[in-house]
Parts: sequence; C-alpha cells; structure tokens
Amino acid sequence: MLYAEDKDIKYRDSLKKTIAKLKKKRNAVIIAHNYQRDEIQEIADISGDSLALSQAAVRTDADVIVFCGVHFMAESASILNPEKKVLLPVKEAGCPLADMITVDKLKAEKEAHPEAAVVCYVNSSAAIKAESSIACTSSNAVEIVRSLKEKEVIFIPDRNLGRYVQIQVPEKKIILWKGFCPTHIRVQEEDIKSAKILYPDAEVVAHPECTSEVLALADHICSTGGMFKYVKESSSKDFIIATECGMLYKLQKENPDKRFYLPTQNLVCANMKLITLGWVAHSLEMLVYEVKVPDGIREKAKNTLERMLRVTGETKGAAIAGY
Ligand code: 13P
Repeated sequence: MLYAEDKDIKYRDSLKKTIAKLKKKRNAVIIAHNYQRDEIQEIADISGDSLALSQAAVRTDADVIVFCGVHFMAESASILNPEKKVLLPVKEAGCPLADMITVDKLKAEKEAHPEAAVVCYVNSSAAIKAESSIACTSSNAVEIVRSLKEKEVIFIPDRNLGRYVQIQVPEKKIILWKGFCPTHIRVQEEDIKSAKILYPDAEVVAHPECTSEVLALADHICSTGGMFKYVKESSSKDFIIATECGMLYKLQKENPDKRFYLPTQNLVCANMKLITLGWVAHSLEMLVYEVKVPDGIREKAKNTLERMLRVTGETKGAAIAGY
C-alpha cells in the first residue's frame, strides 16, 4: 500500500516524507535530470543537465546515488563512482538514442576511418564509451570537438547534434552517425513558425538534438542547463522552448515573471517520465536497481568521460542547481 501511486496531494506528501527518512537512513543523494516529473525535481538534492549531473556524481559524499534519469546517466555516475551504490529507480528507463548504435557497427566505422577520433555523446552505453576517444554532452560538444588534434571526427550517435557541431567547427570533418532523439525530432519547422505567430515577441530557445530546420529558426541553441542561464539573462518575457516538457517546471519556478511555451504538446520523453515518487521510495527501501558496469569496460569508459571532464575545466566547483 505504501508504494502505490496516487494523485492525491496528501499521499504525495506522505511519500515525500518517506523518501526524506529513507534518504537519511541510506546516506543517499537524489540526482534528477531536468526532464524528470515536477514532483521528482522537487525532491531532488541536485538537478541539472547531463554535464552537471556527471560532475555532481564525481563530487558527492553520499554512499548511495539515486539517479532519476535514464540508464546511460546512471551508468555514467556508476562509472565515475565505482565504490558507490548507484540506483536507477525504474530499470526500464532507457534512451532510444543510446540504443541506435552497437559496438560492432562502431568498430566497423573506426576501421573505415582509422585516422579519426571518436566523440561519443553521453547518450550512449558504457560499451560504446569504452570504444570512444572522448565523451561530450550537449553543453560542451563544440568545445570538445575543437579541442581535438585529429582533423576527422566520428561523431556518435546523434546526427542533429553532430550537424550542429559541424557548423560551429568547420575546420574539422565530422562523420555523422544516423541516430536521433525520438522526442526532439517531433518538433517540426511548422510548429516553431505557428508558435511564433501566436507569440511574436517570444525568443526561440532550442536543444541541439532538434533537427537542423528547427535549429535554423532558433534565437539560441543550448543544453537544458544552458537554457536556465540564457532565460535568466535575457530581457525577453516570452520564450518558445524546443525541448522536453519537463524543462518548463524549473524555468517557470526560477522566472515567475516570464512565460514559457512548448512549440508542440508532443515533447514528452516517456522514459524520463517512468520515475515516480513511489518508485523513488521503493528504490531507497529495497536498494534497487543497482547499475554496475563490468571492470574491463568501466575503466575504458571512465577514461573517455574523464577526458571530457578535463577539457571542460573542472570536476569540482561547478554551479549546479541544488548546491
Ligand atoms: P542535456 O545535457 O542538455 O540535459 O541533454 C540531455 C538529453 O538527454 C537530451 O535529450
């Protein structure tokens, strides 16, 4: 009975109290991605974009990390913190984009381009990271690619982010993979144009996983974390936000005098929404579902992630919501 989901606010409050008690008992930290349900973001100790969450995972003193996100995110936390227990409250919370590449196919691509560096977006499995030269997130992809000595780069698995990086870094030759985020590609050029008719003064802020046609209509392109900074500093009052709907919770909370609109109501990542308060309580109570990476793969994947963290500047001291 305790863990059945219920929309009733009192019940939610009692689940939140249960979570707070269990968190203390387990010396746990709750980390949540910006796309999580509102109530999960509310109980999170730390929320942020993929880069901020990787950095938070490096610096935490907690024994248990409850990762409210999708599998590759929890996996990255576990790779960087092998001595800690990293839990993904719903084991089925995956990332379809991360599943659009296999190790065998990547090896074949590497053989076809032996001089190229492999830059893997963090939205990839540990096994793919282990086969890559360096990782990147949407907030540092341009900086990472620019930092490489190689002229040729195999960029995996997101073609839209890869195309965006190619425009920003024309001196490199980027070999694109065919992967895409099924949520971001739902935004169409027409959706942005229609939203602009409804809200003519609004700025369009888009995630680089959107298609190049959508990105061409954006006033600003950035990671989810970058959106908070941009919106706060902008003098505009209205924003069309081209990314997953979970972003609107904190954008509205942090900017009560500004208005946020989605270009389409389809911007829901079903995987991100699998985690509920009930599952977080269950996870802390039962210490499930632990994400662990076999040592051989983990060490190589860790190097790939740490190389990225070194280029990005620091693994300690970044401004992360919740700190
Ligand atoms: P951010 O790093 O911008 O939060 O993106 C994560 C993600 O998975 C986007 O689909």
